[in-house]
Amino acid sequence: MNVLITGNSSGLGLGLTEALMDREAIVWGMSRSGCPLKPRFDDVIRDRQQDLGQLSTLEDGLDSLLSDCLRLDLVILNAGLLGRIQDIAQTDVHDLEHIMRVNVWANKLILDWLIERQIPVSQVVAISSGAAVNMNYGWGGYSLSKAALNNLITLYAHEMTDTHLIALAPGLVDTPMQDYLCGEVDSEEYPSVQKLKDARGTSDMPTSREVADRILDLLDELKADHSSGAFVDLRTL
Ligand SMILES: NC(=O)c1ccc[n+]([C@@H]2O[C@H](COP(=O)([O-])OP(=O)(O)OC[C@H]3O[C@@H](n4cnc5c(N)ncnc54)[C@H](OP(=O)(O)O)[C@@H]3O)[C@@H](O)[C@H]2O)c1
Repeated sequence: MNVLITGNSSGLGLGLTEALMDREAIVWGMSRSGCPLKPRFDDVIRDRQQDLGQLSTLEDGLDSLLSDCLRLDLVILNAGLLGRIQDIAQTDVHDLEHIMRVNVWANKLILDWLIERQIPVSQVVAISSGAAVNMNYGWGGYSLSKAALNNLITLYAHEMTDTHLIALAPGLVDTPMQDYLCGEVDSEEYPSVQKLKDARGTSDMPTSREVADRILDLLDELKADHSSGAFVDLRTL
């Protein structure tokens, strides 16, 4: 199985990479800090340190990372940036632009590159969030970007007719992203964060490896039961 995954240096992306390696996949990965896993036996990780927010260098990065790739069974657009939980009126528009570059436009450029290079792709899973539809108080830039990501995937489904695309909300996952949410955000000011604080350390917030295995186990079901371009919440499956 050939897989491209973004954001595999930590959290869910790292869990997915480890689970894919256990399933003997060939993994191409991109993140700023690089995947910390070492290849085992004859499995392979092809890794590139790349800032997805630097859109002008992304095409060259993809050329170099995927130079030996002829087809992809799976593309996981996982890299994501939370930004600060704060009032939207207090949020600097340049910070919003940066979140949109990483969470939305980098994914557009990756899909464009795959189309342009005529690399056949069977399945795309873009990691979205319940925040894409909740629009809870304080989740401004993140919610906007994930809503845009959902719609980006719907739009590409019209054009990538040989590929099955899904925007997938993974539910709560115990990753470094939760360190900020559960550790630094005042839940009296932003009440939606209390649910995360209550869930951390319980089965309501599984580990990244547990969620990764669940996603990989459901890949065929996602294709069979959902139309290309749909938004699916893992908690409803
Ligand atoms: N954790 C949750 O409960 C939860 C819930 C819903 C959705 N999600 C989504 O799940 C995905 C993974 O998040 P996570 O929880 O695993 O968070 P995380 O531990 O913070 O991981 C985020 C990953 O994205 C990469 N990334 C961030 N900015 C990047 C940039 N500019 N260029 C390249 N890579 C970048 C990071 O790599 P570097 O820092 O090395 O660049 C890292 O590998 C995200 O899309 C997130 O929105 C998470």
